[in-house]
Amino acid sequence: MEKRGKKVRVIAIDGPSGAGKSSVAMRVARALDLPYLDTGAMYRAVGLMALRKGYAVPLPPAFDGADLARSTIEILRMELGESAMRVWLGEDEVSGEIRSAEVSEMASAISALPQLRRILVEEQRRMGEVSGGVMEGRDIGTVVFPDALLKIYLTASAEERALRRLKQRKAEMSPELLKRILDEQETRDFRDSNREDSPLRRAEDAVFLESSGMTLDEVVKLIVDLFRELENGNSALPS
Ligand code: DC
Repeated sequence: MEKRGKKVRVIAIDGPSGAGKSSVAMRVARALDLPYLDTGAMYRAVGLMALRKGYAVPLPPAFDGADLARSTIEILRMELGESAMRVWLGEDEVSGEIRSAEVSEMASAISALPQLRRILVEEQRRMGEVSGGVMEGRDIGTVVFPDALLKIYLTASAEERALRRLKQRKAEMSPELLKRILDEQETRDFRDSNREDSPLRRAEDAVFLESSGMTLDEVVKLIVDLFRELENGNSALPS
C-alpha cells in the first residue's frame, strides 16, 4: 500500500449508481461533522443545462462542454438538505429535476467529455482543499483526491441497486419498471466504466465495500470507525 504521508482530510466514496453512496456519504459527513459533496449532482446540473439548451443524446461530435460547465458552475449552488443535497441554478431550485431519467442519461453522456470534466474536477478540488469533507462520485479516489485519507469503493448487486433506485423514484414496484431500471442502469454503468477519461474503477488503495445485505447503519459505522482509526494514526486498512 502507498505510504500514508500528507493526506487530505477527505473521505472519497466511489462506486456505481445506486450503490447507496449518497445516503452513506451524507450520514458519514454528519457523524464526523465534515462538509459533504455529491459530485454527481454537479454533473447532473450540467446535464440539465445541456437539455435546457436543446442538446440531446447522442451529443454532437464537436461539442466539448467546457463553456457549458463554466456557465453552470457560475450559477450553481449546493447545500445539504434533510435527506439529500439541495441544488439551485440561480434562483431556480432543481433538486428534483436533476434526478429525472432524462437528466440521468444526459449527465452520464456529458460526463464522458474530458474538457468538461477538467473544469468540474478543478472546482471539486477547490471545494475539498479548503476544509476537507466527504466526497462521493466515480473518480474521487482515482483523480480528484488521490491523496484522500480514506477511500471507499462502495457497491452492491445490480438487483439491489435497481431496487434502491425504484424506491428513490417513489415508484410502484412492477416487473416491467424494474426491468427498465435495470436496463438503464446497465447502460450507464457501462458508459461510466468504459469511457476513456476517468472511468469508474476502484483505486488500488480503496477499501472495497460490497453492501448487499448490510444495513445503512452498519456501512456508516464501518466507515466512521475506519476514518477515526486513520486519524489516530492506525494505517492498517482492510482491503
Ligand atoms: O452519482 P450520480 O448517479 O448522481 O452521477 C450522475 C452521472 O455523473 C453518472 O452518470 C456518473 C457521472 N459522474 C462522474 O462521471 N463522475 C463523478 N465524480 C460523479 C458522477
